[in-house]
Amino acid sequence: MISVSTPYLAGNEKQYLAECIDSGWVSSDGPFVTRFEQAMAATVQRQYGVACANGTAALDLAVRALDLQPGDEVILPAFTIISCVRALVLQGLRPVLVDSCPRTFNMQAADVAAKITTKTKAILLVHLYGLCVDLDPILALAQRYQLKVIEDAAEVLGQHYRGAPCGSFGDISVFSFYANKQVTTGEGGMVLTNDPQLAERCRSLRNLAFSPDPARRFIHEELGWNYRMTNLQAALGVAQLENLSTVVALKRQMGARYQQLLADLPGVTLPLTGTDYCQNIYWVFTLTLQDEVKLSVPELMAALAKRGIGSRPFFYPLHLQPVFAGLDWTREQQLPHAEWLYTRGLYLPSGAGITAAEQQQVATVLAELLR
Ligand SMILES: Cc1ncc(COP(=O)(O)O)c(C=O)c1O
Repeated sequence: MISVSTPYLAGNEKQYLAECIDSGWVSSDGPFVTRFEQAMAATVQRQYGVACANGTAALDLAVRALDLQPGDEVILPAFTIISCVRALVLQGLRPVLVDSCPRTFNMQAADVAAKITTKTKAILLVHLYGLCVDLDPILALAQRYQLKVIEDAAEVLGQHYRGAPCGSFGDISVFSFYANKQVTTGEGGMVLTNDPQLAERCRSLRNLAFSPDPARRFIHEELGWNYRMTNLQAALGVAQLENLSTVVALKRQMGARYQQLLADLPGVTLPLTGTDYCQNIYWVFTLTLQDEVKLSVPELMAALAKRGIGSRPFFYPLHLQPVFAGLDWTREQQLPHAEWLYTRGLYLPSGAGITAAEQQQVATVLAELLR
């Protein structure tokens, strides 16, 4: 089977893990956690990093730390992972969904502007699949209407917007270190900010909001989570981050190779190689099936799986999620691109560890299936 994501684990991972085991520091109190936080902060040009259990947890921490009030509206794309909206709903906030560009897969300023009301208090930016959001016009709106900005950069570590690292924008940003990310800790996440108070709040919330006063440790003023990252995970993270530029180069090589191999494939649209504000980092290599292709995405995925090739469908639009059925913010939504993308999009094996021979194999099978 050619896996949809093969991680690249070719650096100091084993050595740093052995250091954890030899020293006995396996829990979240070990030294690699701070090292990883500082290395990530330096990489994305932020002051503070707060490592946590996963990207979903990072979103919970970031949203909660901003102290928005129940009923406040937060604008986010309908075409994204459930983690984004989940963090809002669990805080009693009202999600306001915007559509996405069918070519870049990202949210756009004009759609955001159309949804701003007096109740709007924040924008949750999400960069998807390897290209980033065109940030300047959205950040200008946020400034004009005094909106908080959370930047979900889970998929784009190593990507830059007009030369500045993704994850350096807005009040607070989040990353995921799941195995399909440019840097993996197996499971893991991080919140980054330049605001010392926000960072401190996230540190407290990830650690059950224990009291900072040692004598009052088990006396709680609020409810947090145990979202701590272990030293073992952070050790992996430090080793992985040392090779970030190699991984980014491998991802771009993988993307360029598929662009070449699949250039003449009928009936599919390949991802953009870039825009005027970023070059595709190919977090995943996407295909969208053109209307004349009779094969559905599930049929194509099943045929690929039969030939030993892993793939994944695109995100399911948030307003159609069964878990939110009947909620008023999901009703009467005009989000045609989000719906179309789900129906026609999928992605191919795209890990940094994929070989040229595997990519050739994927291309050969796709050509057989689509011709
Ligand atoms: C954009 C985005 N945000 C958040 C997450 C959640 O991260 P995790 O899987 O680490 O909880 C993901 C996961 O892939 C993601 O793609």
